[in-house]
Amino acid sequence: MFNLFGSKKSRRHYEHIHLDKNNIPKHIAIIMDGNGRWAEERNLPRALGHKAGVETIRKIVKECDRLGVKYLTLYAFSTENWKRPQEEVSALMKLLVEYLKNEFKELNENGVVINHIGDITRLPQNCQDELNKAYENTKNNTGVVLNLALNYGGRDEIIRGIKNIYKKVQKGEINIDSINGSTFSNYLYTANMPDPDIIIRPSGEQRLSNFMLWQCAYSEFWYSDINWPDFNEKDLEKAICDYQQRDRRFGGIKK
Ligand code: FPP
Repeated sequence: MFNLFGSKKSRRHYEHIHLDKNNIPKHIAIIMDGNGRWAEERNLPRALGHKAGVETIRKIVKECDRLGVKYLTLYAFSTENWKRPQEEVSALMKLLVEYLKNEFKELNENGVVINHIGDITRLPQNCQDELNKAYENTKNNTGVVLNLALNYGGRDEIIRGIKNIYKKVQKGEINIDSINGSTFSNYLYTANMPDPDIIIRPSGEQRLSNFMLWQCAYSEFWYSDINWPDFNEKDLEKAICDYQQRDRRFGGIKK
């Protein structure tokens, strides 16, 4: 039996969540998956699944702020999502504009930087305008940096970085031998940001789907069966708690 307030998948009981305040991930990246299935389970149009997903975004941004997470990256629209029916793409773009308009005041008051990553020039003009306005008005805030990944693809980002670095080499502005992992990172959308410590994917799928391919080299992965609209603050805490049990060696050995 499914109902509007939760499905079988959403019923979970975490016995004991104790968070180490000194080991909160700096950067959390989330593949917000399962909106469509959430809606289908309730015989609702897919767009209502995305709408419910926006409610989860609200909760999770607040929770990241409360916990002291510095960067939160949300995969909202991939370079491959254009393959979806036009109606769904339009609904997503509309939700984005609504989100930026409705949430701007509160996010700004809470010190959130509303940033975006991905090639937004392909988005409708009103989306681009709202995104640019939101960024311009919040870029000096000092709270959570919210990266909305829009028309974002990891491969696209890497190719774009290669092209930009090649232009600099051609102009003689940088020496090809000086290029290394950390200099190349500056040519990505996430320049000057730490790599994600943890990548969360709800909905039961266990793949990256072209998300942060360069940046996830040493990220910890956390999967859950819960669809994104049912994901809540406790799930985030559980993900962080599990993350804190991981032994991150970055290719080295345990001290
Ligand atoms: C994946 O679920 C989700 C998306 C492709 C869109 C995510 C977008 C939002 C939550 C709202 C819009 C964004 C902002 C920033 C306001 P799916 O549709 O692939 O789910 P399914 O796999 O169950 O079909």
